[in-house]
Amino acid sequence: MAWDPTLYSAFAQPRLRPALDLMARIEAPEAARVVDLGCGTGNVTRILAERWPRAQVTGMDSSPEMLEAAREGGGRVTYTLGDMGGFTAPEKLDVLFSNAALHWLGDHAALFPRLLAQVKPGGVLAVQMPHNHYAASHAIMAEAAEAGPWRDVLAPLAARFPVSDPSFYYDLLAPLSQSLDIWETEYLHVLDGDNPVVAWTRGTALRPLLDAVAEPWRSAFLLEYSRRIANVYRPRADGRTLLPFRRLFMVVRAN
Ligand SMILES: C[S@@+](CC[C@H](N)C(=O)[O-])C[C@H]1O[C@@H](n2cnc3c(N)ncnc32)[C@H](O)[C@@H]1O
Repeated sequence: MAWDPTLYSAFAQPRLRPALDLMARIEAPEAARVVDLGCGTGNVTRILAERWPRAQVTGMDSSPEMLEAAREGGGRVTYTLGDMGGFTAPEKLDVLFSNAALHWLGDHAALFPRLLAQVKPGGVLAVQMPHNHYAASHAIMAEAAEAGPWRDVLAPLAARFPVSDPSFYYDLLAPLSQSLDIWETEYLHVLDGDNPVVAWTRGTALRPLLDAVAEPWRSAFLLEYSRRIANVYRPRADGRTLLPFRRLFMVVRAN
């Protein structure tokens, strides 16, 4: 799946806040090795490098386009191209961080213990993922996927959502950890522009669906989705649109 750094960064500020909220909950005064999985354009990775100025900080991503943008951003970070699903650290880490990325991978029952095993005892695995598939922005994706000749291709893609309830991660990781801080926050993103919820999802969740079909279905599906979204997410009196968005966080201190 191709990522577009410009589209993704259009909402850089509201997308950054959950990453900062996650970082604020990590208690690790010193760190020698920090990795950011699914680092994207590196805007969060650079902040990790500022937070731990003596650490070796690595950002990993599978998108050459995102990594190119990350490298252009400079900073004291090493970027590597790779699949975070197969990530193994050559030496155990102090902090393994991932913001808004691990929901692109399935089989979390196997993935999360494997990631935690890359962290040294007392080190931290810190993760934020959207937990928003029930919301209209995503439910309408599934409705629009069912509402045209593209149904057989798009409906299975729209139905895919690997993030489970917090209790699933608690049961999975509590036995493997010294402590487990797990919570959800529903943000209320305030967006500018015309039908901006479409612009928001085009940068992320809508991408695999748009990539899966050629024209004329691609434009027709996008139009169908946009029409339904505009009916639900209406601008407020000041012209801005509110996007409620629930996110799941966990800070796991390894055994
Ligand atoms: C929504 S962006 C988040 C970027 C960054 N963490 C941030 O907070 O701004 C998700 C990133 O995960 C990356 N990604 C998705 N699947 C991946 C995989 N299997 N391995 C590595 N990176 C992946 C994408 O390329 C994309 O850059």
